[in-house]
Amino acid sequence: MCGIVGYIGHRNAYPIIINGLKRLEYRGYDSAGLALFNHDLISKKTKGKVADLEQLFVTKAETEGHIGLGHTRWATHGEPNDINAHPHISNSGNLVIVHNGIIENYDAIKQTLIQRGYQFESDTDTEVLVNLIEDVMRNEKVGLGKAVQMALNEVVGAYAIVVFDKQNPDEMVMARLGSPLAIGIGEEEYFIASDATPFIEFTKNAMYLEDEQMAIIKRGAEPDIRNIKDDSKILPYIQELQLSLDQIEKGGYEHFMLKEIYEQPNVLRDTMRGRVLPEKNLIKLSGIDNYLNKFLNADRIIMIGAGTSWHAGLVGEYLFEELARIPVEVEYSSEFRYRNPIIKDNDIVMPVSQSGETADTLAAIKLAKEKNAFIYAICNVVGSSIPRESDSGTYTHAGPEIGVASTKAFTTQVMVMAMMALKLAKEKGTISMSEYNLYLSELAQIPEKIEKTLKTDLYIQQIAHFYKDATNALYLGRGFNFPVALEGALKLKEISYIHAEGYPAAEMKHGPIALIDENMPVFVIATKKGQYEKIVSNIQEIKSRKGKIIAIVTEGDTQVKNLADHVIEIPETLEAFTPLLATIPLQLLSYYIAVYRGCNVDQPRNLAKSVTVE
Ligand code: F6R
Repeated sequence: MCGIVGYIGHRNAYPIIINGLKRLEYRGYDSAGLALFNHDLISKKTKGKVADLEQLFVTKAETEGHIGLGHTRWATHGEPNDINAHPHISNSGNLVIVHNGIIENYDAIKQTLIQRGYQFESDTDTEVLVNLIEDVMRNEKVGLGKAVQMALNEVVGAYAIVVFDKQNPDEMVMARLGSPLAIGIGEEEYFIASDATPFIEFTKNAMYLEDEQMAIIKRGAEPDIRNIKDDSKILPYIQELQLSLDQIEKGGYEHFMLKEIYEQPNVLRDTMRGRVLPEKNLIKLSGIDNYLNKFLNADRIIMIGAGTSWHAGLVGEYLFEELARIPVEVEYSSEFRYRNPIIKDNDIVMPVSQSGETADTLAAIKLAKEKNAFIYAICNVVGSSIPRESDSGTYTHAGPEIGVASTKAFTTQVMVMAMMALKLAKEKGTISMSEYNLYLSELAQIPEKIEKTLKTDLYIQQIAHFYKDATNALYLGRGFNFPVALEGALKLKEISYIHAEGYPAAEMKHGPIALIDENMPVFVIATKKGQYEKIVSNIQEIKSRKGKIIAIVTEGDTQVKNLADHVIEIPETLEAFTPLLATIPLQLLSYYIAVYRGCNVDQPRNLAKSVTVE
């Protein structure tokens, strides 16, 4: 959470930072701020969005400088207001800092600093940190880099920070523990950001700080990278970014979420490219090939994730168990990390994450590593922390997902799991060759079938209009489509603020049925394959209690059509792959309902795209 942008070099830092912050707003958007040095320090901040911040910078002098930093916030300590917004400035007025993370022992440090005469304006842990750095500089008579290092060795918590001293505006210091920080390297200039999107048009060369690393950057000099704890020097590992600018722009769609829903056929083709090869009867996944014995001997897969990624893990459970006959457990990372989980030699721990930065999932991986587990990550963001912490894995290749509500990340995660389960099923001989070929050719057709499903868009808009004023909603599914029901409900609640719950359809009788009346829309995934007759009975139970039924059915269905108030048809596919199709209309429904309700679809309230605090 929170987005950081910094620049030092020969260009004007202001537009780089403002535009960069706009790209990082998905990380938090309750307040924003920017500081520049131009003869003196100029620092402004405000509650609200980056667009509100922009209004505060008016004159030429205020919008020029060759060193600067900016921040877009998702509040942890202190309510979102002007004072708590970043940057924070030290008591002397010299040091300026932006911070993403939480300093857990900030209160004790604050009390000590108060006794030494420091004063605090805000409720934030960050203002404490910048004054601690100043205190170290003053008492130990050291430069900024050393002071940052010494101060960080006193704090407990998580951080990505960037700081500079207005008395030495040719140097910037940054450090990371638990929150991401990328450094773009240009000709005698450096860009610093929470991810690479703010500087993609300026340089393709980037390095990522690892946990417990800091960098001292000076104009025209090589970055000085150090281990925060022991001060050892680290050689920079510079990589070439694959990201392009049009991948992160809206491309004519009103919202990123809609663009990302519509991108799904193509990104799923990317997920399969060079991997699913039906003409050779082959699935190539180097991550598995390199560790084939581990997978062939696996007694259990433990999936860990949060939110939508956890839902993808649940679909994975059905896929791996059905096809490859490997037992699967799916755990919330936030629960797993605080239990004392039993991990055996032949278990595989499989984190699932779009961002690759989710704090709970990272902590769960660290715990699993302490127990000597083999970690196989399914992740979207290349080079992010989760794949770096893992032994092996598969990237989903969904491209940047900017809309806070996950769409293409989910379907690509499910696609990766389908490829993995199918490949392992063949290797283990748990399905016949003819079944394997059928699955493989069906998998290859999924993008085309999603294209067809997307043609229901206009009809879905009508349904969305009909239910836009609902206050509650239920989502029901069975088998492979039970996680789809959970995901459908999550999508609706997070962007339209309608209370929604997902259930296995048969569980309805054990409680939720009490909620059903003529005002309750019930979204049911009732595709032909699987337990169709059973779900038809569930629909009848809803109907007899006057609930409104919106059913996702297989093309040509007549039985459910006669019972439901609205039906949305999706093409026929194998039961194991229905989640890839059934999810699409539910994404569109949530999107249009939220739009009709006037909600901010791409940046729903209280949420952030990348949850780097626990
Ligand atoms: C919901 C959503 C979140 C994320 C969750 C995990 O639409 O996006 O529930 O799925 O915060 O994030 P990642 O996948 O980045 O670990």
